[in-house]
Amino acid sequence: MITASPPVANPQAPPRIGLEQYYSEAGPDYAAWSPEFNMHFGYYRFGANPLDRESMLEQMNVEVLARLRLNATAEPKLLDLGCGLGATLRSFARRLPHARLLGLTRVPWQVEHANALDEKAGCGERVRVIEGDYEETPLLSGSYDGVYALESSCHAHGADKGALLAEAHRLLRPGGRLVVADGFLGGGRFVSRLQERIYRKLCECWVIDQLGRLDLFTARLEQLGFAEITVERLQLRVAPSVAHIPWVTLKFLLTDVVFGARKMTRARWNNVLAPVLLPLVSAPLGPMIYCMITATKS
Ligand SMILES: C[S@@+](CC[C@H](N)C(=O)[O-])C[C@H]1O[C@@H](n2cnc3c(N)ncnc32)[C@H](O)[C@@H]1O
Repeated sequence: MITASPPVANPQAPPRIGLEQYYSEAGPDYAAWSPEFNMHFGYYRFGANPLDRESMLEQMNVEVLARLRLNATAEPKLLDLGCGLGATLRSFARRLPHARLLGLTRVPWQVEHANALDEKAGCGERVRVIEGDYEETPLLSGSYDGVYALESSCHAHGADKGALLAEAHRLLRPGGRLVVADGFLGGGRFVSRLQERIYRKLCECWVIDQLGRLDLFTARLEQLGFAEITVERLQLRVAPSVAHIPWVTLKFLLTDVVFGARKMTRARWNNVLAPVLLPLVSAPLGPMIYCMITATKS
């Protein structure tokens, strides 16, 4: 059992920052992590250069695409649930010339900037980013060959992320594939109250209620009728990109904070703090693990 007790409200605490505010204010800062605005960790393939962060981030896109198993689909329709600034959509557009790609984000600032980046990249009509809630979309049932959530499922409600998974199931055609890559609580315990508090702070910084619990998440997939459920633990694959955090943070502090023109808001500081806290609660020190979960709609 994981010993994550419910957070106790502190009446003196400043009001929580909402998702839209966080991603609008901290959004431009992701350029320090990835010039292509890949807002996720990287996937390290043995033999690759661990110093080349952008290629590891791009490799994560490639790994998600491989698990969507689209080989036999001539004109695949794909949906990105929580697309950020659309880097994964643009990566897929380069690799799948006949695909139609839709991205969903709750953040209007991201819609505007993702669509501008798509246009600049010459994606044309095939790629579109719209505003919406991935737990309740206006999109047609059974209309997607593949649906994926890359480091966005963490924001969904509940420890089983049930509403997000139910919506993904509704949107997929029979035989369609779901891929989710994210941090989860993997079954281990917090080693101390302090570590649990660090976990809570990390969640607050990244505007997450709670991470998914791996056992509840996979049980929900089964209950919804997904088949071929596989869980890959990718801690070692993401570790080389996680190792870039101290250097990226230091560079960001020396450039954007000291000499930057934009005011450092609480949301922006949170985005600096969260990645620093991450290794303190992740395996091997803590219960947080990084997983890629795939499933097929029966
Ligand atoms: C860490 S970013 C990841 C972005 C992108 N998948 C990537 O890897 O570059 C998380 C994204 O999830 C989106 N998100 C969170 N909750 C959402 C919701 N309920 N509906 C739609 N998007 C959501 C945020 O707006 C943000 O774009």
